[in-house]
Amino acid sequence: MSTQSPIRVGLLGIGTVGSGAYTVLTRNQAEIMRRAGRGIAITHVADLNVERARQLVGADVSVSADAFALVRNPDIDVVIELIGGYGVARELVLEAIAHSKHVVTANKALLATHGNEIFRAAADKGVMVAFEAAVAGGIPIIKALREGLTANRIEWIAGIINGTTNFILSEMRDKGLPFSQVLAEAQRLGYAEADPTFDIEGVDAAHKATILAAIAFGIPVQFDRCHVEGITALQSEDIRYAEQLGYRIKLLGIARRRALANGTDGLELRVHPTLIPSRRLIASVEGAMNAVWVKGDAVGHTMYYGKGAGSEPTASAVIADLIDVTRTFSADPGHRVPALAFQPESLSDIRILPMSEVESAYYLRMRVADEPGVLADVTRILADLKISIDAALQREAGEGESQTDFILLTHLAVEGRVDEAIGRIEALPTVLSKVVRLRMEELS
Ligand code: HSE
Repeated sequence: MSTQSPIRVGLLGIGTVGSGAYTVLTRNQAEIMRRAGRGIAITHVADLNVERARQLVGADVSVSADAFALVRNPDIDVVIELIGGYGVARELVLEAIAHSKHVVTANKALLATHGNEIFRAAADKGVMVAFEAAVAGGIPIIKALREGLTANRIEWIAGIINGTTNFILSEMRDKGLPFSQVLAEAQRLGYAEADPTFDIEGVDAAHKATILAAIAFGIPVQFDRCHVEGITALQSEDIRYAEQLGYRIKLLGIARRRALANGTDGLELRVHPTLIPSRRLIASVEGAMNAVWVKGDAVGHTMYYGKGAGSEPTASAVIADLIDVTRTFSADPGHRVPALAFQPESLSDIRILPMSEVESAYYLRMRVADEPGVLADVTRILADLKISIDAALQREAGEGESQTDFILLTHLAVEGRVDEAIGRIEALPTVLSKVVRLRMEELS
């Protein structure tokens, strides 16, 4: 075993994940040392709640409220950033890099929005920025994409990468409850934050999808080009109708390479509620669990499943990064795994497609008058726009009812054309509601 002194780690923020990291590192010290070849010790902690931090780590660790002093401290080799957000966290990470510290972070919001600046600064200084915990918590999906699947041309990634929304959708389906009621339950159980906006509006999943797309396709992080749609508008009846048609609705983060008619490739990058066939393994991912499905040209389908949040599951990813950093500490930077999996000078400028150019199958639900010719009018519009119908479902009108729900599933179609069809359908006098439009993915 190595006689070198332990790597000295400074921890920024000792909340849920930070305390998990401290506990796991302490508990599994011997095993971790056998793997890393050297000890790893959290020697400094910065947290605004100094008292609580001191109680957690005891007297041997230096505790302070001054995060900037920590990142500038010459006695620290690696900084773990668990503060979150993109304000002070960005300044601290850049300052740590400027002081030649390696950085381990779980901060998906920061990397999705400022990743390019951070990775460039790290490359200039010859330090590593590791971020396994930023996507899908304890699931080693970054490692899988950056190392295990590097032989492949990745075709697509589809992930359930937000546990809060997956819990809400599972409950809506199981109990037939409306979104607002399940959200309140999720908050009561502690799954959803007091302010769950980033989760339910799809922003958290979009941060993660942006990072996955970058390392899967070798592109700069481009959060501003990711289409983001959450689950707040989702209605229980669509979950029910989807079930009847053999589908489940999940909030998916999707990144897909597409060959375009002009011979070039484009990339779809989108987060939205998605119908997926109930028979697919990923459809069985329930509650707060996460799963990422990756299709590579050589390996075919692979799926990664586990806890996407929580103290020790996320700490598992943080410590794995610490071990990686420790192992490659003294390696020539040119021999380390690049932050975005591809060499920085080899990133691709593949175009991220606007939603109007995205291709998907669609679920369309509308309220229609129960009279002759209505369905013919709707299907005529789709035929005129060359949108092919895969299945249709009409709820039998109740006794005395003069209107009913009509649901159509389409084959693959370009979204711009589907939008045009919806406009025309909504203009029909016999169509009495806005058309509910959900995207569907076969994931084959
Ligand atoms: N808020 C996230 C989720 C967990 O619900 O999955 C941290 O990324």
